[in-house]
This record gives sequence, structure tokens and C-alpha cells, in this order.
Amino acid sequence: MANQPNDSTNLMEKLVALCKRRGFIFQSSEIYGGLNGCWDYGPLGVELKRNVKAAWWDTIVRQRDDMVGLDCSIIMNPRVWEASGHVSNFNDPLVDCKGCKNRYRADQIFMVAAREGDNVVLSSCVEAGDGDMARQTAAASANSKTRRRLTQKADRLEWAVVRADQLPDGETALCPACGGELTPARKFNMMFKTYVGAMEDSSALAYLRPETAQGIFANFKNVVDTSRIRLPFGIAQIGKAFRNEINPRNFTFRSREFEQMEIEFFCHPSEADKWYAYWRDARFQWYVGLGLQSDKLRLREHDAAELAHYARGCADVEYAFPFGVAELEGVANRTDFDLTQHAEFSGRDLSYYDDQTKERFVPHVIEPSAGADRATLAFLCEAYCEDEAPDDSGKMQPRTVMKFHPRLAPIKVAVFPLVKKDTMPERAAEIHHACRRAGLASFYDEKGAVGRRYRRQDEVGTPWCVTVDGQTLTDGTVTVRDRDSLAQERIAADKVVAYVQAKLAAR
Ligand code: GAP
Repeated sequence: MANQPNDSTNLMEKLVALCKRRGFIFQSSEIYGGLNGCWDYGPLGVELKRNVKAAWWDTIVRQRDDMVGLDCSIIMNPRVWEASGHVSNFNDPLVDCKGCKNRYRADQIFMVAAREGDNVVLSSCVEAGDGDMARQTAAASANSKTRRRLTQKADRLEWAVVRADQLPDGETALCPACGGELTPARKFNMMFKTYVGAMEDSSALAYLRPETAQGIFANFKNVVDTSRIRLPFGIAQIGKAFRNEINPRNFTFRSREFEQMEIEFFCHPSEADKWYAYWRDARFQWYVGLGLQSDKLRLREHDAAELAHYARGCADVEYAFPFGVAELEGVANRTDFDLTQHAEFSGRDLSYYDDQTKERFVPHVIEPSAGADRATLAFLCEAYCEDEAPDDSGKMQPRTVMKFHPRLAPIKVAVFPLVKKDTMPERAAEIHHACRRAGLASFYDEKGAVGRRYRRQDEVGTPWCVTVDGQTLTDGTVTVRDRDSLAQERIAADKVVAYVQAKLAAR
């Protein structure tokens, strides 16, 4: 039976170590000490992330008649970001500790107190993604005596959890690291600035895009005029986005450079509620279909207070990462806000004329906005398992196995000769090359005992291992070993490609 380590900190540490050891994810510019919030995908990581993006593109663009794709430039006319509101509003509240000089996002610092009547059982200041997580973190980091009291008095306790940027006037939050006083919150714009051309003055100021969405809005008219697509339809884009996050954290979860997979789905205003519900549910199911367990996934509808002033609805697809439940993707009903803003700032007419109903209107937009890196991290977390498998002598040994959905696995099939003689390497290489020619990511390995080779493939999540052995030389069959069930079956060597393709199609 495969398990994940119970201790979530431990799971995250093990996963980060595996990602480095096996070439999934490295710290950016590591030989120079790294750069906070930036990550590099190694040989296996780049395959995994490409498979995630390909699965998204296939579902969202290739399999639908009502979607088209786009690939916009990262640096755009800075007026785009004035129209979108990013220049004035894309701010995070920044606080500094007057003591240790640590820097935090004020909306991620919480003062947590637990009282029984007038008696304060716990009072602490913690950094966390939301109030629930803050309460858990405060309780978990208390000393053992306090933890015991919290458990004993659980039913009688009154909890107060207040965000640092929502404290009553006159109260100041304290630093979670040293207990020092924090400065009042000030606004910090998260867009990276750059200059276009030789002059470094305000006339040349530009931004690295903080989201791919605005390139889609800016091209709405181009797409309508050139692609003969009719409403309702969507435009999809995958690409890099950049945010100067105050506190990048949790491995790749919050980075400064990351990739988004965004859809802007344009529809008649009267159909916006229907399409919002459609995309919210479809996007949730996409993650389930690729192997995220539905009990670790949540769909959280925002309440009215959380909604942007122009939005009619918003839901987050959340995943229970080892470090807490956090957003994978947001799905928002953005009404006609973006097209109206861009029409006003550009002076262009961005309305849509329906030649069947003879109606002209500004379409409403449903925006499912996902992170390719966050999705990849969720698939990595979900895949990590520890169980036992037999070694070469049949004795059960602990193994680490990445149980990726086969569509996402970086390597689909590994091919081994049992021994390096009797034409077994040549026969195995033939199968390996046939797999490659068929577009299956295949890996050839002839080094070490076969049990060790299986183990190496388990650790990187290869679903099927094919071994050429003595019997192959007499009857032309090979063994195929399944990563998850460990079952082995014999099939004809010239059927390996069809076998793997059929298994992939069945998932
Ligand atoms: N256009 C809407 C938009 O950008 P968002 O909630 O700010 O919305 C959408 O971002 C998605 O992009 C998030 O759900 C997340 O998956 C990803 N994302 C946002 N900031 C990120 C960061 N700093 N690091 C990694 N992924 C991030």
C-alpha cells in the first residue's frame, strides 16, 4: 500500500530533495547562491511541466471549437497596465520589522489569541496564508504545555485571529520571527519595471507583464476580425508572468517569475452566469482527471466582501498542499470591465456586433486563470509516495515512487536489457528507438541490477518498464512491469509501442 509521509513538513522536505536529486527543479543561478523566488526546471522537470501545459492546451484549445490560442509579448505598451488598473492597484501591503528587519506582506501576518474568559491561553503573531492556517500555525508552534492546555480546553476557548493590516487603530502587529514591532503597512507595487530603448527615463518606462490576461484583451479585436470565430468564444494563452512578490515561499508556489495558463471567455452578458458556472466546474474536473484526488481539492466561492468591485463572481480551485490549502487557479466573472477599460484608454471600439441578432454590445468575460508552476507543484505533491517493492532477490525493500498520471509522467517507458550480452542490448535499443519514433518519451538503461533500474524509474515516475531477457531471444516477448501494481506481463516486443499507446489512451 503506497503512502505519503504523515508529517507534511517532512513530505515537503523530501519532495524538494527529490526534485533536486533527480533533476526536476533547481534553485535559479544556484552556483551564485541562488535568487529568491526564481526556479529552474531540470531535464525531468521541464518534461513534466511541458506535459502539464500540453494537457491544458489540448483540453482548452485543441479539443474545442469555441477556443483559439494566442502568444503575446511580455513587454507591452505601458498604457495597457494603466487601463487594467495594475499601475495604481497592483499593490501588496508591505511591513518591516523594526528589530530584525525582516520584511512581510501585512495581509499574511496574523495576531492570534485564544482565551478562556479573561485568561489568555495563547497569544502569538504568525505568518500564514489565511486565518485558519494562522490558528493552526500558532497552535502548532506553541510550547508543549500550551498545546496541552489548548487541547484540554478546546471546547471552552474563544479564538481571535486578526490580520496585521486590519488591526484597530493604535495596535501594532509583532514580528513572527523576533517579536519586534512592525512598521505600519505601506503599498508596494509588484510590477517589475524596465526601460525600452537607450534612455532610462520615465518616457521609456515599461513593465514585465504581471499576468498574461491583458495581452488577450488588447488583442480581442484582432482575433474577432481575423479568425471568423463568433461569440461565445474564448482566447487562451500560456506564458511567463512576473511579480515582485514581497515574500516568495513554499518552493515554487509563490515565485517572482512563473507561468500562467489563462482563458478569457467572451459571451453575451445574459449568458455570463451560465458560463461562469460551466468554467468553474470544468476547471475543477480538469485537475481531478489528471490525478489530483478530489478530497484534496476544493472549490471555494468568494463571498461578496472578497470580490473586486467589477466582478460578479469568483471561485478558487484550491489544493491541500503539504504546507496548507492554497489556490491553484481562480475563475472569475469579470463582467465587461476589461474591454470597457481598454476601449476607454485606447480610444478603440471594442464592442461586438452579432450579425444574427443585429445587436451590438460589450461582451462579458469569464476568466479561468491557472498557474503552470502551481499545477506542476500540486502534481508533484500528489505523486510522492513511499511503499515497498521486491529487490532482485525478491526481498521487500522501501521505495519512493512518483505516481504521476501517465499523461504527465516525464518518461513514459524505460527499456532495459536484462544483461549486457547475447544481443539483449541491441534488442532493447530497437524497442527504445521504436518508442521514440512513435513520440513516446523513452529511456534506455543498461547499468546495474535490474531491481535498481526499476527503482530509479519509480523515483521519477515512469509508468512502464520493459525488460528484454533470455526468453526474448527465443520467443520475441518482453516483460512489461507496471509502476503502481508492480504486476509484470509478457507481450510481443513489436507490440510495446501499441501497448503503451493503448494504456495512455485509456487514461
Ligand atoms: N489574470 C488573473 C490573475 O492573474 P491571479 O490569481 O493573480 O489572477 C492566477 O493569478 C494564477 O496564477 C494563480 O491562481 C496561481 O496559480 C498563479 N500565480 C499567481 N501568482 C503566482 C506566483 N507568485 N507564483 C506562482 N504562481 C502564481
